[in-house]
Amino acid sequence: MKFLSKKPVRTFPHIKTTDAEKILALCKKEKIDLIDIGQEDAIEIGITNVLINHGFSVVGPTKEAGQIEWDKAYARNFMVKYHIPHPKFFVFHSQTKGIAFLKKQPKHKKWFIKASGLAQGKGALPGKSSLEAIRRIKELSRFGRAGKTYLIEEWIEGEEFSLFAACDGSSFQILGAAQDHKQAFNFDQGENTGGMGCVSPPLMMNAAILAYIKKHIVAKTIQGLALENRTYKGILYVGGIIDATGNVLVIEFNARWGDPEAQVILPSLQTDLFELGNAVSHGNLDNINIKTDSKTRIVVTASSKGYPQDYSAAKGKRIFGIELLANLDNVTIYPAGIRVKRNLMFTNGGRLFYIVGTGENVLEAKSNAYGALSVIFVAGNNLHYRTDIGWKDVSRAFTKKKNVLGYNYGSVEKT
Ligand code: GLY
Repeated sequence: MKFLSKKPVRTFPHIKTTDAEKILALCKKEKIDLIDIGQEDAIEIGITNVLINHGFSVVGPTKEAGQIEWDKAYARNFMVKYHIPHPKFFVFHSQTKGIAFLKKQPKHKKWFIKASGLAQGKGALPGKSSLEAIRRIKELSRFGRAGKTYLIEEWIEGEEFSLFAACDGSSFQILGAAQDHKQAFNFDQGENTGGMGCVSPPLMMNAAILAYIKKHIVAKTIQGLALENRTYKGILYVGGIIDATGNVLVIEFNARWGDPEAQVILPSLQTDLFELGNAVSHGNLDNINIKTDSKTRIVVTASSKGYPQDYSAAKGKRIFGIELLANLDNVTIYPAGIRVKRNLMFTNGGRLFYIVGTGENVLEAKSNAYGALSVIFVAGNNLHYRTDIGWKDVSRAFTKKKNVLGYNYGSVEKT
């Protein structure tokens, strides 16, 4: 069975992503050629700084450059300074002051309350009225230190996108874009999660929007960080939104690949990832030819029932059916919170696994992903996934609004 067979992958679950000393020791012992940092908490503690100081090649910004992810207040002030489009925001360090501010605002105005620090993707709290936003401020205490400084931001209605650029400090290349579905339930209902599924490329990403993002967001960010002496080498994840009048705004920056966006962007790469990573790390993006394929991909996140809230009742349940999918064309499975015992699979986390369907268009990709999912179940009915991933593009495909850009994200751009 391919899924359970011995693969050229080793994991080190006993090492925390923030344990710089142990990670450094492991990299030395295993003589690691290239390290791609996927976790924001590792960036925050400066794992890149430690590794590059010991001569390792790293994809992932230093602590200073990565501050655009781990400190949302810093990121917003950076956007102001370098004229990068963003929603209106207000930074507060005390709950009383934020509440007093909201009491003076129109009652029906919508807001987002955002913890400035890292909160595992759960730090953006929607307030559909000023009163609800006040209640949300009171919830910030659950994030501890990460919620002490927070932002009150105007709510933007529109379509969100995630865009990924490889950056080598001075040049960048857009690798792809996706539309993530963050809420737990169909049609964007329920709590925010790390992401319940994506479609890539998203059909709303046309040539004009892409050109705007390159010039006014990615190039300005790379240039601004260089001017601040925070040279950015790594994957820049632009979480953006296109509002009702077509304005593109940055919702947030992340200093890494996205989850589950990576599951649909990385397979489209026709260029060797090691070669790409080395070019990022050594400032050589100009010298490689980055290509992506023309397929559409949909990833569906399969989670334990209860996720992102309490899913403890779903722990340790048997997962059936994954083994049947090992050799299907156009379907890939990425395990996450799964424990394998005597060749059987059991739930062991909130996000259990991902199913990626690939196709010539969104309809084919969707049907491949959900066709595969239909044979999987978890004992006690403990499997949860959204059934509407890609719904906006499915309706666009039916109304024949084609993607004018297709898969061509252009070439390496000098900033
Ligand atoms: N999918 C959202 C994230 O990776 O932050």
